Amino acid sequence: MNGLLTNISQLAICPAAGRPGDIGLVTGAALAWNQGRIVWAGPTESMPAQVRGWPAEDAQGALVVPGLIDCHTHLAFAGWRADEFDRRCRGATYQEIAASGGGIMSTVRRTRAASETELHARARGFLESMTDLGITTVECKSGYGLTTEDELKLLRVYRRLREEGPQTVVSTFLGAHVVPPEFQSRRAEYVRLVSEEMVPRLASEQLATFCDVFVEDGAFTPDEARQIFAAAGRHGLRPKLHADQLTDSDGAALAAEVGAVSADHLECVRDAGLAAMAGGGVVAVILPLASTYLQTRPLEARRCFQAGVPVAVATDFNPGTAPSYHLPLALMLACTASRMTPAEALQGATIQAARALGLAEEVGSLESGKRADFVLLDAESVEHWISHFRPNAVRAVFVGGRRIR
Ligand code: NIG
Ligand code: FE
Repeated sequence: MNGLLTNISQLAICPAAGRPGDIGLVTGAALAWNQGRIVWAGPTESMPAQVRGWPAEDAQGALVVPGLIDCHTHLAFAGWRADEFDRRCRGATYQEIAASGGGIMSTVRRTRAASETELHARARGFLESMTDLGITTVECKSGYGLTTEDELKLLRVYRRLREEGPQTVVSTFLGAHVVPPEFQSRRAEYVRLVSEEMVPRLASEQLATFCDVFVEDGAFTPDEARQIFAAAGRHGLRPKLHADQLTDSDGAALAAEVGAVSADHLECVRDAGLAAMAGGGVVAVILPLASTYLQTRPLEARRCFQAGVPVAVATDFNPGTAPSYHLPLALMLACTASRMTPAEALQGATIQAARALGLAEEVGSLESGKRADFVLLDAESVEHWISHFRPNAVRAVFVGGRRIR
């Protein structure tokens, strides 16, 4: 089936070859697709003859951007941790909350007790709300199970969401989120369980594309991460990292060393870490909602650009340290807190987020051959959309050329 969208006031193509801020903006544009793929995007006056007669829809002067990509979420979990929000407002730190049995382990206890059906229903609801906001691709991490069966349970929820569609759902195994209390005096055994039991099991069921490790004081050391990534690599899983969030733990350099597709958080990264990432082609994923909720200093995106590191922006949606799936809010905060321009932030949630998922050939820009995932927004410009923060500026959402909202 082919289709045509006309009367677009501003079209942001977000080309893969664009430098920071180059979103390939076209004023007075149209967009054509066939069999779910973009065939042409550009100024209305240069529309090719072959697409002119195709069934057309009037965008009524909307701003059109590629379908948004949330490249870092912890989508499936049970319960919330609003009590911790309150404690942090009173001055408690991440480490204090974790030491008192809160934080990640509190969600692990509730998630272990929840059934796959319950977790699926809840995650499905979040995904629907994310679609309303224009998000057409979502990365989802496990990491609230921390036993083989509970990690598989979370990854099966994601497989079901992927099969149901219409969004693209990418799964990441995060069995190395924290060492669960039952292994506290036997860390090496837990690392072995992750590497030698969980990874082979989930790989045999093709349940994940990426393997993530939280490298941090109180989570996993670089050496433990190396061991886990080596096992993951043998089973075809590509590395990703939670790196340098609360302390500088050499996570950025490790990301480059192990050939990670992205290093995420990076609030405490040093310039040497960014230089290593540039050399290794690692994408920096900044998570401005997490630093806002944790009341910690965000990473300055300009440091990444100066080092030659591409920057993606994601929500880190989770029940404790980032209880929001509002990617447009994260984009606004990426500008105000991490000093990105709105155009750079848009690249961060489209083409750079696609890179952070190894999907830059498939989604993230409105270039010919890519999937026809795009969003119609009620805004005069990209700057207007991101700065004028509203509950929802979306007028319509298309996935594979089909309208889903
Ligand atoms: O990305 N940093 C570690 N993991 C998550 C937190 C998840 C949680 O607190 O439940 C993060 O911020
Ligand atoms: Fe995270």
